[in-house]
Amino acid sequence: MRRKLAAGNWKMNGTSADLEQIEALAEAHAGALSEIMIATPDTLLHRASAFTKTGPITLGAQNCHHRESGAHTGDVSAEMLIDAGASYVILGHSERRADHDEHDEDVRSKARAALKAGLRVIICMGEELEEREADNTLDIIGGQLAGSIPDDVSGETLVIAYEPIWAIGTGKVPSIAQISEVHDFIRLRLEQRFGPQIARGIRLLYGGSVKPANAAEIFAVQNVDGALVGGASLKSADFGPIIEAL
Ligand code: G3H
Repeated sequence: MRRKLAAGNWKMNGTSADLEQIEALAEAHAGALSEIMIATPDTLLHRASAFTKTGPITLGAQNCHHRESGAHTGDVSAEMLIDAGASYVILGHSERRADHDEHDEDVRSKARAALKAGLRVIICMGEELEEREADNTLDIIGGQLAGSIPDDVSGETLVIAYEPIWAIGTGKVPSIAQISEVHDFIRLRLEQRFGPQIARGIRLLYGGSVKPANAAEIFAVQNVDGALVGGASLKSADFGPIIEAL
């Protein structure tokens, strides 16, 4: 049985004043059976870890370098993120692919480094609107799956987030049938590559304009094991109902 996961991605938002959002979530969901992960900016990880010592909340980062250490000004290694309090790292988000020209092979090498250091990875993938309209979604996802996921993964260490790029921050959400089709396809491809036992343990998240109003319907889809939430994760008043819908 896969444990449900509500993952919040704060992106480039949040200062120390926002730590109270994490504190509020930790208090409100102390007995939650689902897992709650919040990927803060790196600058907040260490202080946020004060609220994650007990209870269901874990912390994540939003990127890491593919090397363990060295002359890479401005970069942060997986080991440093663990030291600061992270147990997850989000990799391959479409904003990093676009802003930093990251490709599948970059995501794969970062994932290898993160897994080696002991982080769990949330690897993101998704299609552009034009690709969806041209009926190329499954080809795009198939390519991203093959290219960005390393070989040495397990249900414990890998989470995949399907995030249609056109749904991120737009208020547009694919139909339930579209979400279901892509998640079933990802599970099938994982089974073909890693075998049924490993594939059945890997959690698949949907991401893109998840809100309290649409969360329950999305979570009811078979093969949706939770969500990667951007904007609505910034305020505990919005993220709380999403967690409760799991
Ligand atoms: O990582 C999160 C996704 O990019 C979704 O963002 O919930 O603001 O659409 P959003």
